[in-house]
Amino acid sequence: MSDRKGIILAGGSGTRLYPLTMAVSKQLMPVYDKPMIYYPLSVLMLSGIREIAIITTPQDQDQFKRVLKDGSQWGMELTYITQPSPDGLAQAYILAEDFLDGAPSAMVLGDNIYYGHGLTGMLLEASAKTSGGTVFGCRVQDPQRYGVVAMDAEGTPTAIIEKPEVPPSDYAVTGLYFLDGSAPERARQVTPSARGELEIVSLLESYLDEGTLDIQRMGRGYAWFDTGTHASLLDAGNFVRTLQLRQGMQCGCPEEIAYEQGWIDRAKLSAHAEAFQKTEYGNYLGKLLD
Ligand code: DAU
Repeated sequence: MSDRKGIILAGGSGTRLYPLTMAVSKQLMPVYDKPMIYYPLSVLMLSGIREIAIITTPQDQDQFKRVLKDGSQWGMELTYITQPSPDGLAQAYILAEDFLDGAPSAMVLGDNIYYGHGLTGMLLEASAKTSGGTVFGCRVQDPQRYGVVAMDAEGTPTAIIEKPEVPPSDYAVTGLYFLDGSAPERARQVTPSARGELEIVSLLESYLDEGTLDIQRMGRGYAWFDTGTHASLLDAGNFVRTLQLRQGMQCGCPEEIAYEQGWIDRAKLSAHAEAFQKTEYGNYLGKLLD
């Protein structure tokens, strides 16, 4: 087991998904057959991380607790932290400083979904790194919507620019950040940007400038979705549905990963299968027992 701790940043106003998010928090919206947050949660679990802080708005915290509970159902330990206002992604490290208590971390945005052959290997490699950090670059058609990697002629990353009008490359930095134990201290040095946020790219640049940030490319074999718009939410749901129907395997199933990791035993998996018995999801858990 890794001593790295996890953070899922699941705050934000959700206004871009109005009217959907007027009653339900964005990261709990369905992506096909399960709540959105199951997918980023699964990514941290695949990285071997059992201790995770869930950062939400104060008003949404109860909804998350109802769905995710204390994590013991998956052999995990979940802690809840509130972010009073969405003052930027880097603020998560300041809010989680006591929780992290000097440990290295992996933070994932609650609306990011990853899928790909070899993903677990890539995650474990990033997790094994003891100092500096690792982020993941993915080619996209609309880089101006994301943090974008600028590279020199040799392809060495030189900067990460948030939502550039003229993108220096097609490589977006995805919402998954493996950083060492110095991240909270560095986050406290970040000053708010013109839009008033503590930008994640400023925190990443403090590593990049020191030459301690790895930017791993997710190639053609990977799918990465951020579900920030109505269209991308539907695209992600359709992708998961197609994949699961074709393969007969679940994408983003915490019970399966917990069982594979040895964090829950057969009896507990069987209880989960029983609880969901009238669904495909429950049938799937039942089959894992065979
Ligand atoms: O999805 C990857 C992108 O995520 C990166 O490429 C960008 O560098 C990064 O800034 C971020 O861009 P977004 O435009 O997606 O950021 P957004 O403000 O939409 O926030 C992402 C999620 O985090 C969203 O679900 C809301 C949540 N959030 C956001 C902020 C600013 C918080 O929970 N707290 C916050 O303070």
